[in-house]
Formats: sequence, structure tokens, C-alpha cells
Amino acid sequence: MSADTQKKRAGEAAALRVEAGMTVGLGTGSTAAWFVKALAARNLADLRCVPTSEATAELARDLGLPLSTLEDSPRIDLTVDGADEVGPGLALIKGGGAALLREKLVWEASARCLVIADAAKVVKTLGAFALPIEVVAFGHKTTANRIADVLADHDIAMPARVRTASPQAASDRVASIGAQYVRTDGGNLIYDAKCGAIHDPARLADDLKLITGVVEHGLFLDLADEAIIGTDGGVDLLTP
Ligand code: A5P
Repeated sequence: MSADTQKKRAGEAAALRVEAGMTVGLGTGSTAAWFVKALAARNLADLRCVPTSEATAELARDLGLPLSTLEDSPRIDLTVDGADEVGPGLALIKGGGAALLREKLVWEASARCLVIADAAKVVKTLGAFALPIEVVAFGHKTTANRIADVLADHDIAMPARVRTASPQAASDRVASIGAQYVRTDGGNLIYDAKCGAIHDPARLADDLKLITGVVEHGLFLDLADEAIIGTDGGVDLLTP
């Protein structure tokens, strides 16, 4: 069975958790898109939906879901979002779709956060998926040097690399021209850190947050209340 079928199962199961009248945070990515589609199909009354990216906003708008903003709807009942890795205690890596900052803002404003994923996302140790770090464009190479120092302090030898529009074009020459840099919805850059294994996610999260120029990172710790994992047989439910 394909990962996409598992994602669809998770998204559809999550849509059943939404009730009429709720304010709902809409995640970003291919799994979250299945949730958004299943939610729209339920046609629930009086929903308010807060999207975590322009891409999700566009999808939700096309499907007729009523959109709101974090400013107008600061208290979200339930957010449903995907993840790149789901580790022990529902510690997550997110940001593969470059939406991690808006995602984290919406998650932190939510009474309950539900993560949805295919089975391959569940890992024993976080870090095989490169950790996305959102960085202000101004002076980003000096910020990258400070990120490298922090990574080295965590026994991660490889420096983070700026994300480009095409992974094949990620040569230093193209990156130095700058035209290919991926920009987030907030206009920032993404650096991806190939950590291999993150042995102390909480300490790494704290250390990254202290770097001037780092806006946010993709470690989502102590935020997910539950996970719905799509499998070949149905869905598995995980709690922290
Ligand atoms: C978006 O920035 C990410 O946090 C996504 O939620 C994450 O990359 C999962 O994406 P998929 O559902 O497409 O695997």
C-alpha cells in the first residue's frame, strides 16, 4: 500500500474529530491536504479555519472552507497537521514544506494538536530527516556559521545547507547567486541540518532558539497531544 493511501487514511480519520462550530488549525503538506479535503467534504456548520500556509489557504478556499486568521481567531480548538518525523513522546520534526513558523504559531495557539502521518514517519530517534531551520535572509551566512557551531556542540559535524528551489541545483555557485533560494511565506530562508541522530532534542531546540537570525526551527516538542498514523490495516493512535 502506498504512503499516500496511508496519509489519506490518517487525514480522513482526523476530519472525523472536528465538530461543528470549532475553530480549526489547518496544517500544511500532502497529509494535511487529505485532512482539508475530508473536512470540506463533511460540510460542518460554523467552522472557522486558520491555515498555516498560503498553499493551505488556497486549497481550503477552493474547497469552500471558511477561513480566518490567527489575529481574528486566536483561540483554536483543534489543529491537525502532518510531520516529517514522529519520535518518542510525539516529539516531531516538521518544516519539510517550509511552513514551520506559521505552523508552530498556530499549534501554540491550539487547545489540542493532532498530528497525522503515514507509518514511515514514525522513528525511534529523530534526525534522519534533515531538520529545517528558518533563518532571516539578512546576514544569513553568518547565522549559518553560528548554527554550525551549535550543531558541532551537539556532535553534528555537517553544517546546515540553505534550501534551494531545486535540490539538484544546490551547488554553492547557484546558492551564491541566491535566485534559487526557497523563501518561506514570511520571506525567510530555510537551512536544513542533516543531524543523523538528535540525542537531546530539547537542548538542541533551546540552543537553536538562542541564535540571532534564527526565526524558528522544526523541532515540535511537547506540542502534539495525539497522532493518527495511517497504516496498511487502518490507523494507529499514538499518545505522548
Ligand atoms: C510543512 O512545513 C511540514 O511541516 C509538513 O507538515 C511536513 O513536511 C509533512 O509533510 P507531508 O505530509 O507532505 O509528508
